[in-house]
Amino acid sequence: MAKSKTVYLSKLDRLLQPSTIDKADYKSIDWENDGETILRKVSMIERCLPVESVVDFGGMWEVDGLYSRVCMERFKIARVTMVDEYVSENWVRNPSLRSGVDFRKGDFSEEGFMSTLEEPYDLALAYDVLPHQIDLIHTLTLMLSKTRKFFLISQPILPEKTMPFRNCLVLLSGSKAYGLIPFKEKWAEETDYWANFSNAAIRDTSHWLWGMTPSFIESIMKSYGWEIVYREFWRGWLPKSSKWRICGLIFKKF
Ligand SMILES: C[S@@+](CC[C@H](N)C(=O)[O-])C[C@H]1O[C@@H](n2cnc3c(N)ncnc32)[C@H](O)[C@@H]1O
Repeated sequence: MAKSKTVYLSKLDRLLQPSTIDKADYKSIDWENDGETILRKVSMIERCLPVESVVDFGGMWEVDGLYSRVCMERFKIARVTMVDEYVSENWVRNPSLRSGVDFRKGDFSEEGFMSTLEEPYDLALAYDVLPHQIDLIHTLTLMLSKTRKFFLISQPILPEKTMPFRNCLVLLSGSKAYGLIPFKEKWAEETDYWANFSNAAIRDTSHWLWGMTPSFIESIMKSYGWEIVYREFWRGWLPKSSKWRICGLIFKKF
């Protein structure tokens, strides 16, 4: 393992103490590759403390609800809800992943489902979910309507310098233009999965991808009354040659 990866993992271990979170329980997580991103995402939550409630939008795939559990066990947040339309096998099999987390299976882009979340939350996590929404603005509006103080966004973004304009939003389905399709460096190894991102016929939202510049995200959030209070960018699990970066953005309601 590269030295920097080891450093991120040991920082993450320290950050998770004291808690009963056992990394071995999270069988879907590739700790070595994702350690840096997980550390940064957890640290973003820590920056917003103290809060009394959190909603983790889309907390399941390949993380088995880790961020919800960190909120509950490590940060002692009293009310923790996780919303996802998908349920992982590991989550079903292992009760220690589930205990104490109020899991709601459903689609957070649907108004009917969102009306079942009665009370708003102090903090919301939107970690790697916005690029997959069919109607991004509609879904974001619903998510913000359930959030009182802090809204955290982390996901791959197109750096400003890769795009001709500020405030860019690009639907990448069916587009190979300008080499914007992310992860194309990996196609050779994982053709079936990643090639779907260039197939316009696919409307499965897990292969539906919006490319955004940070300025787009900041502008849209500002229009809804949210100001940016923290931003960082890193490469994480993206290939070295990738034009993309991963962002960590904290917004506060003003
Ligand atoms: C790429 S994963 C991100 C997992 C995790 N939040 C992370 O940071 O690694 C996206 C997750 O969001 C869920 N998801 C995306 N859009 C959704 C929606 N509209 N309603 C419910 N779940 C959704 C998917 O099922 C999946 O579990």
